[in-house]
Amino acid sequence: MADFTGRDVYQAEFDSRAYLEYFQFQAGTLGDEVIAFYLKQLCKTFASGHLKGDTLLDLASGPTIYQFLSACESFGNITASDPVERNRQEIEMWLKNKPGAFDWTPIVKYVCELEGTRDKWADKEAKMRRAIQQVLYCDVLQSNPLAPVSLPKADCVLAVECLEAACKDLSTMRAALKNISSLLKLGGALVLAGILGCSFYMVGPRKFSFLVLTEESLRDALHTTGFTVVEYEAEPRFDKDMFDACDFSEKYFVLARKEKEV
Ligand SMILES: C[S@@+](CC[C@H](N)C(=O)[O-])C[C@H]1O[C@@H](n2cnc3c(N)ncnc32)[C@H](O)[C@@H]1O
Repeated sequence: MADFTGRDVYQAEFDSRAYLEYFQFQAGTLGDEVIAFYLKQLCKTFASGHLKGDTLLDLASGPTIYQFLSACESFGNITASDPVERNRQEIEMWLKNKPGAFDWTPIVKYVCELEGTRDKWADKEAKMRRAIQQVLYCDVLQSNPLAPVSLPKADCVLAVECLEAACKDLSTMRAALKNISSLLKLGGALVLAGILGCSFYMVGPRKFSFLVLTEESLRDALHTTGFTVVEYEAEPRFDKDMFDACDFSEKYFVLARKEKEV
């Protein structure tokens, strides 16, 4: 078990570049298994056209953009957000195609394969760069997580490994879900992905705490904060070796609908 690492620890000690090592796709890191699962689920949900709208808000984006690869096929106005300045800078560097920006090409190509548009990866990058309109500060523990900015409610809110990182216990998670709900239109879609049974993950030599979740605790928190689960998918961990990097037991993906204001 790791001591809780809140937003201030992230701001002071989260090494964005070390975190991006997990995204050296198909290089044998633990990231491969988890990211491939997320990409397949995101493709199924967004590229299929089941979920459509104009505005999508991603919370706790980290320094990554893989989560927008399928979403930008259905949402033309995407906002990324994270409390850590270096994470926001990494995204901005990629958006502006700056030298030294992380190379997402292997993951972009993988998603194009999934979507059946293998040769169109450069078009996909261009589309995604057009869709991501802004990169904002966020803290899901504040009543307006985007304060001081206030945005019109979004059609879709996405959060990958956000609640697990931000919340120290289940009651904080319920409070965070209420805050998140305030950013979403009634009837709008909340897409959550993450890992279950996880108490920590390593970023370089630094251990970051995670809130240990189960399917039941997740469903319960969604239910009590006015969401209906439309789709729930989970897959057990198949890696047997890299428990020193992260101790999760399953990957999950949830599509929920906001049924009421809370
Ligand atoms: C494991 S990373 C996930 C990053 C990205 N979503 C991904 O899929 O790779 C956890 C993220 O949560 C962010 N975070 C930590 N505390 C937070 C808070 N209170 N509100 C919002 N985000 C927070 C961190 O800055 C970090 O980028």
